[in-house]
Amino acid sequence: MHEIIEVGLTVNGRPHELRIEPRETLGEVLRDRLALTGLKVSCDSQVCGACTVLVDGLAVSACTYLAVDADGRSVRTVEGLAVDGRLTPLQQAFIDHAAFQCAFCTSGMLMTATALLEENPAPTREEVVTGLEGNLCRCTGYAPIVDAVLAAAAATAEATA
Ligand code: FES
Ligand code: FES
Repeated sequence: MHEIIEVGLTVNGRPHELRIEPRETLGEVLRDRLALTGLKVSCDSQVCGACTVLVDGLAVSACTYLAVDADGRSVRTVEGLAVDGRLTPLQQAFIDHAAFQCAFCTSGMLMTATALLEENPAPTREEVVTGLEGNLCRCTGYAPIVDAVLAAAAATAEATA
């Protein structure tokens, strides 16, 4: 019989008490138990970034991060970005700059870039490129994604000036 443990996670502002196996990853719990399927699991080995979510504001790979390690923590997924249907400046910039094609990488890109902009609201192009180097995209060539992140930073700065 498998060991079962109780964990308490706050996900996108909502508390959840869950009974899970210690081996379950955060990605499995978010996708399979909470139906938050925005994050994608592809490489399953912390290489591609498609599964990126934020735990207490830090970007982590949900494919290898154990759900038990998120006990008592605050988790944000792509579903938690827009508020009342209003996109964040970053999400809007991804649309405006056509920063996705198949979109498989997009939720991970958005979460990594969200953490990046929260830590550094006015990054240089080089800092954006470096900040996103753990997120792979097969479609866009990356330039529109970097453009979108820089545009979101500029839009946020303008809105708060
Ligand atoms: S699926 Fe987690 S990093 Fe690729
Ligand atoms: S848009 Fe297809 S992998 Fe990035």
